[in-house]
Amino acid sequence: MYNLQEQIAIVTGAGSGIGRAIALRLAREGASVVAADLDGKAAGQLAKEITDTENRALAVEMDVSVEKDVERMVKEAREGLGPIDILVNSAGTGTTGLILNHSVEDWEKNMAVNLRGTFLCSREVAKGMILRKKGRIINIASISGKQGEEFIGGYAASKFGVIGLTQVLAKELARYQIRVNAVCPGYIWTPMWENLAKWFRGSFPSLAEKSPVEIFENRVKSVTPLRRPQTPEDIAALVAFLVSEEARNITGQAINVDGGAVMH
Ligand SMILES: NC(=O)c1ccc[n+]([C@@H]2O[C@H](COP(=O)([O-])OP(=O)(O)OC[C@H]3O[C@@H](n4cnc5c(N)ncnc54)[C@H](O)[C@@H]3O)[C@@H](O)[C@H]2O)c1
Repeated sequence: MYNLQEQIAIVTGAGSGIGRAIALRLAREGASVVAADLDGKAAGQLAKEITDTENRALAVEMDVSVEKDVERMVKEAREGLGPIDILVNSAGTGTTGLILNHSVEDWEKNMAVNLRGTFLCSREVAKGMILRKKGRIINIASISGKQGEEFIGGYAASKFGVIGLTQVLAKELARYQIRVNAVCPGYIWTPMWENLAKWFRGSFPSLAEKSPVEIFENRVKSVTPLRRPQTPEDIAALVAFLVSEEARNITGQAINVDGGAVMH
């Protein structure tokens, strides 16, 4: 167990999947949690689950790609719980199709949520961390941010950007003892992958008879040496370590949790 008592964490995208598991894990480690999400209801349910276990939590309905929303989120977090020690940027989205068929809207959607959202939240939270000369930022990138992937090109490009931004922030903020790292999940069955699997089924006649979960499992087996999918809890375990004192000398890294699918 990592001792995160007295720590206050914002987790974006906390309403579902990986963000939700991270928020629950940080709360279990003792942190107070701000659950931020476009889906205010899901964020509210999660915050209630956490307060039911006697941790402090609060929900904020917001869009990470909107500057004013991000400013409001940080203000509400600070006023409701206190100065922010930890930021986890997990909110994300993805579009599908060959890059040559991407509309500008598709392209912008990936960039707005995944890349601009990570930039806006990090910039806003870092202001307080700089004053206090401490803090940790974790960006949930993807193995698609290390190895280009067909059919999710706009998404992959945005995640390459997230890893680049992680390195820039790690260098710029190190002088304030703020550590910035990225975690790169592999294959996790969440609503995000379900949407992708449905798109594959609709786009390739050879997959028309397969269920979305079969498509996902076949993909995992064909590209993952450990031949099993990852879970949101696998990602949360690494995040808990990275924000703890045990990881005090780790910054600027992008670490894969992917069963060996990508080895760089
Ligand atoms: N599932 C995977 O296999 C996988 C693999 C690699 C990386 N990731 C990354 O992990 C992160 C979480 O993905 P997930 O699989 O848990 O997806 P998910 O769809 O289960 O959860 C994403 C959450 O983000 C929220 N969200 C979306 N846009 C938002 C916005 N503009 N502002 C605020 N909240 C917003 C959604 O409401 C949702 O609650 C994403 O950044 C994703 O790119 C996922």
